[in-house]
Amino acid sequence: MESEQGKAPKGRPKRGFWSVIQWIFLWGTIFGLTGVALVAVTNKAVIWSSSDSFCGTLCHTMTWSSAAYHQGPHFINASGVRASCGQCHIPYDSSHATATEYVKLLLFKADRGAKDFWYESRKTIATKEDWEKQRPKLGAEFESYTKAHNYITCRGCHSLEAFGGPRSRMKVLIHKDQIKANTFDCFQCHQDVGHVYEPQVAKVGGWYTNEQAASGATLYQAQCASCHGAKLEGGDGPSLTGTTWHQMYGGARLLTVWGEITGPMAQYAGTTYTTQQSLDIVSYLLQQNGLPSGNQPLADTRELSEVLPAK
Ligand code: HEC
Ligand code: HEC
Ligand code: HEC
Ligand code: HEC
Repeated sequence: MESEQGKAPKGRPKRGFWSVIQWIFLWGTIFGLTGVALVAVTNKAVIWSSSDSFCGTLCHTMTWSSAAYHQGPHFINASGVRASCGQCHIPYDSSHATATEYVKLLLFKADRGAKDFWYESRKTIATKEDWEKQRPKLGAEFESYTKAHNYITCRGCHSLEAFGGPRSRMKVLIHKDQIKANTFDCFQCHQDVGHVYEPQVAKVGGWYTNEQAASGATLYQAQCASCHGAKLEGGDGPSLTGTTWHQMYGGARLLTVWGEITGPMAQYAGTTYTTQQSLDIVSYLLQQNGLPSGNQPLADTRELSEVLPAK
């Protein structure tokens, strides 16, 4: 009997093979479903907290940037397609992110969220004046951040190899060098894409300096006059003054004129221009079309969002 008792099982009975499988299956399912639910909730929260209504209205601090966004080309445009706050400001798109990107996205959001919450709760930015004071710093921070990420959010929507419309060939040429070098600085040429704070009005003072226009005249006579005429009256290429000028550029931004010259026209003339040289040529054209000179040269491609007068 002794020996039989010794053989009797102690403690819990041993599981049968099938009950182990059942056990694994049950807990597996519970973990799996909880995981899915958590991911779904997290993702909902991620999407919601990147949405325009969250960023633009719930957060008091963002009131003014949100209003300025509503005046920008990513809210109002011909195609009716909008970019939302998160699509520009958050470097990873939650619906297309890889697992690693998703983790980075969560970390990014936690960091940003904590900062935003801190500022918001401390009422660091409570009035429009506070806001105006902080804006340059915040804007610059975002710019350098975006630059460091090689403008991934912008390029996620915009292909720079394919443009449609009347000036598409020129647009491709303009962006060609950046694609080749795989370095981008969209804000260098595209100001006010996200937020438009002041209504865009034509400059009333001077657009360029007389010295600049004189330097542009020299370049023009050497490289453009053969096709456009010594007095811009036209030849193989169209006239660049009077009615033709206004038809082409009335109401257009300076960026358009500059882009035309630095891209295809430099190519027609068989040369390339430095930014300064191409801006000098623009200055000359402005001068010949009666726009006043001043004491500030046209020195930076960031100044090219000015709109040319229609007449
Ligand atoms: C098309 C891309 C784009 C969209 C969409 C966008 N922004 Fe911006 N945002 C920018 C850029 C570019 C800057 C930096 C320079 C500037 O102010 O334009 C910026 C700057 C900011 C700043 C810093 C202060 C400032 O205005 O410079 C805040 C805050 C901000 N955005 C919040 C928002 C909120 C809130 C929304 C949605 C209601 C939004 N952004 C939508 C591109 C965008
Ligand atoms: C969610 C997609 C999306 C994102 C992100 C986005 N854009 Fe756009 N962008 C658009 C759409 C849509 C338009 C309007 C196109 C049209 O009217 O044909 C537009 C228009 C533009 C234009 C023409 C605006 C004008 O004034 O005529 C520029 C320049 C531009 N985007 C640059 C940028 C830059 C720079 C960024 C990054 C900060 C950016 N976009 C981010 C979708 C996007
Ligand atoms: C060296 C200056 C420069 C840089 C840098 C630049 N662009 Fe442009 N872009 C232009 C010019 C010039 C045009 C033509 C404007 C026109 O014809 O009205 C243009 C046109 C566009 C347009 C079409 C706008 C329209 O009205 O059809 C989009 C979109 C655009 N750029 C997006 C970008 C994005 C995104 C980046 C950064 C990845 C970028 N660009 C960088 C100069 C630049
Ligand atoms: C080989 C002849 C030739 C040369 C050199 C040339 N152009 Fe042109 N240009 C043209 C032609 C042709 C057009 C008409 C548009 C086209 O066919 O692409 C044009 C168009 C233009 C336009 C208007 C584009 C439009 O919207 O239709 C401007 C501005 C311009 N040229 C300026 C210049 C400047 C500035 C130079 C000197 C850097 C220059 N061109 C050199 C032939 C030339």
